[in-house]
Amino acid sequence: MIARAIVRGIHAALLAVAVAAMVQGCAAGRWVAGAPSAKTAPAEALLIRRCSGCHEIPNPDMMTADEWRASLVRMQRRMTLPASEWQALADMAGSDAGR
Ligand code: HEC
Repeated sequence: MIARAIVRGIHAALLAVAVAAMVQGCAAGRWVAGAPSAKTAPAEALLIRRCSGCHEIPNPDMMTADEWRASLVRMQRRMTLPASEWQALADMAGSDAGR
């Protein structure tokens, strides 16, 4: 049936759009240089989950380790997270390499 074929075509097109949007969304959301390592990926997920509600996802690579930790202390007044999560976030502090 021609109508079936058209419907199927539309579905395929919608799927393509959805996949493209996902890929694009990931690209836009990527701010950490290089591929996420097994070590940093969970912390990145934490950042996205916990830290994107009030402002853009903060980027620890954009500040010194001291600035990053100071920001976390400030955020600790605004939100309650398990100590292990604060620790994982603190561990994201940049290496300050090149600064
Ligand atoms: C309840 C809302 C809220 C949440 C959730 C939140 N922030 Fe913030 N954040 C703010 C506000 C408001 C500011 C600007 C004022 C300030 O700096 O205190 C800010 C500013 C910042 C800044 C800018 C520099 C600075 O120190 O002011 C950084 C970095 C930051 N937040 C990191 C984080 C991280 C990391 C998390 C997750 C652990 C987080 N924020 C979660 C409200 C929030």
